[in-house]
Amino acid sequence: MTHLQKPSMGNDWLPADDISEALATRGFIILPDIIPEPIREELLATVKITQPTLRPAAIGRGEDEHQNQFVRRDRIAWLDPATSALNGWFAGLECLREGLNKRLFLGLWDFECHLAHYKAGAFYKRHVDAFRGRSNRRVSLVAYLNSGWSPEQGGELVLYTQPGLDDQGTVRVTPLMGTLVLFLSEDIPHEVLPVTRDRFSVAGWFRVNDTTGQRLNPAT
Ligand code: OGA
Ligand code: MN
Repeated sequence: MTHLQKPSMGNDWLPADDISEALATRGFIILPDIIPEPIREELLATVKITQPTLRPAAIGRGEDEHQNQFVRRDRIAWLDPATSALNGWFAGLECLREGLNKRLFLGLWDFECHLAHYKAGAFYKRHVDAFRGRSNRRVSLVAYLNSGWSPEQGGELVLYTQPGLDDQGTVRVTPLMGTLVLFLSEDIPHEVLPVTRDRFSVAGWFRVNDTTGQRLNPAT
């Protein structure tokens, strides 16, 4: 006799095999409805707690860093694994980091992420997350936290991909609760179309360690 039992949730809720293969062949993967319920709850609790600390997002780093409301209008808060209550979230991403390194030899060293809030009218124009040779970001991910999104509310993520068999070079992602998208930070330009309602997401980056004698790995 077989018993259908719901397995208790481990940290391997992200399919490392599928993700590795997609990143290696197409450079991106969209995973609708992948975030387990307990982790959705963690993330939504974080949205509530973090709201008062959101600040206008900047572009560039160090001396290049400045706020540019023509490029992006989201407000963000960096999430710290040590102080946030996002245990399942960070444990799952650590598990995936190890899984990607095993399969793709990427040498991913750590993971950083921020919560982002796009208010009505906000957008993020076409950009890449990492310029080759100038950034330690290798794999980008975005998790969406919005219930009941409809097309006329805008706010889709547009990925500019290499035209493939199943797409013409642009792929649109609806920012619907539970969806997660991953892509190569240096290879895939993307943008967030203007929104007409509140839109919450967590954007994150797996990074390599580029510490050299003179230059310390930037903390943010
Ligand atoms: C970013 C980004 C996309 C999104 O923060 O760099 O591209 O869909 N976010 O929120
Ligand atoms: Mn981006």
